[in-house]
Amino acid sequence: MDKILILDFGSQTTQLIGRRIRDLGVYAEILPGDSPLSGVLNPADTADTVRGIILSGSPESVYENGPAPDTAVYGCGLPLLGICYGLQRLNYDQGGGVEALPKREYGRIGVQMRAADSGGEPARTFLAGFAPAFTAWMSHGDTLTRLAPGLRVWGTSETGYPAVVIHDTRPWFGLQFHPEVSHCEGGSEILAAGVVGVCGCSAGWTMEQYVEEVRSSLRERVGDNPALLLISGGVDSTVAGALLLTALDPGAVHLMYMDTGLMRKDETNTVKASLERLGARHLHIIHCEEEFLSALKGCEEPEAKRRIIGDLFITIQEREVARLGLPDSYYLAQGTLYTDLIESGKGVGNKAHLIKSHHNVGSPLVDAKRRAGRIIEPLDRLYKDEVRRLGRILGVDEEVVRRHPFPGPGLAVRILGEVTKEKCDILREADAIFMEELKKRPAPGAGDRRLYDEIWQAFAVLLPIRSVGVAGDVRKYGWVLALRAITSADGMTADVYPFPAKDLLEISTRITNTVKDIGRVTYDISSKPPATIEWE
Ligand code: XMP
Repeated sequence: MDKILILDFGSQTTQLIGRRIRDLGVYAEILPGDSPLSGVLNPADTADTVRGIILSGSPESVYENGPAPDTAVYGCGLPLLGICYGLQRLNYDQGGGVEALPKREYGRIGVQMRAADSGGEPARTFLAGFAPAFTAWMSHGDTLTRLAPGLRVWGTSETGYPAVVIHDTRPWFGLQFHPEVSHCEGGSEILAAGVVGVCGCSAGWTMEQYVEEVRSSLRERVGDNPALLLISGGVDSTVAGALLLTALDPGAVHLMYMDTGLMRKDETNTVKASLERLGARHLHIIHCEEEFLSALKGCEEPEAKRRIIGDLFITIQEREVARLGLPDSYYLAQGTLYTDLIESGKGVGNKAHLIKSHHNVGSPLVDAKRRAGRIIEPLDRLYKDEVRRLGRILGVDEEVVRRHPFPGPGLAVRILGEVTKEKCDILREADAIFMEELKKRPAPGAGDRRLYDEIWQAFAVLLPIRSVGVAGDVRKYGWVLALRAITSADGMTADVYPFPAKDLLEISTRITNTVKDIGRVTYDISSKPPATIEWE
């Protein structure tokens, strides 16, 4: 399969470059910017062919020891596209000058192109993707001040700096702006001119093809051995389960799910029904509510709660897996996504945003299986929205496919202070009403879509505060509930969902009328940053 390699120097938009290229039907892979490239450009053991390399942006400066690629990129003969810092890197490494701008350029900026008729190939093919003038999106504090030999400016920003640069004889291209950002006019056409036009990548990356490839590689690797998948009930592990059940003999697929008592209302039943519909024969549901609640008793501190839950997960996981008595040759599967690998700093991407102190990319069991070469992660090349698409192709219930993310520690990080069974039940009830309302209420200005589908993640939080109210003529002393609903691309940053007041008022009324222990409802209006999405 043709692929584009993206070398990540730490820009916020590197992942977006990958998404946009995949939207063109071309497979794109991200590697840390300074990765050694021997064996990567012409791997002996895969059918993947690198057709071009993108050098990403970066918050650093080239003249202050900013990250640099393996010098092999300049000798490999493949087309190179430098984006922002990537362009500055290319120019600097080839002997050009890069200096700080008097004032950083940020946001929408016009670009004017020169006529393309004087250029040779492949410049002409690339330039065919550009409008004569367009509004680009920029974010840079440095600029090219002297061009390296052979580089020529083809487009200039309205502020007078080089915006589009191409080498006269080598297939080297550079953009000072970010074509991957949706505010960049014609950005997809520019990327397509590079990836499809110049690199000649065929648009072979479809989900149907991915399913076929993954299925045959699963069969080949796992053979007749049993496979065990740890299921959380979320989209990723359920889709991974569907993939295993359809690729392997369902009789050899074991699915293990822990009901920690910190799950949402009816979650365990929904997960069970959905996996059984997908043909699961060995579904091991471990009921461990009491173990979790007694371990959490008296604990109020958020990180301590997370630690207790993470440790107990591992203890129970090892105990229950041992109890299954699978032969040592079994494979352990998990629903790790491409973004999980990037977030946990494992293998791809340079930037490890460690936001999840108990992420299941690593646990002693997982680590041991990884060392033994017996881990399977069939979704590790996919982004979240691609997993949802795959889930639909595999026939996973729509209810599961569209489900919002749910943190590993579950309701424990949404009950501030001590977690008790009573509080879990109150929160479950209130949260279920909130979700039900979001699923039936239309989203303003979004056609048939419901609020639930417009919102990236929504949930209720039980605060450790009680306040005074009246019910009938009687004084009531009820708990305070906070509702949270955010929009986001990836959970790294988030904006508050701007609810129509009517929806919030009606939802609040239904909650206080139905859940008798709740006396007051508030709406959390904090974005991330500075707040986080979860309250703990
Ligand atoms: P925060 O609260 O850090 O959350 O802004 C970002 C996203 O991650 C989810 N989250 C977790 N997911 N284990 C997980 O698997 C965790 O410990 C965890 N903590 C937060 C959160 O729901 C949001 O989608």
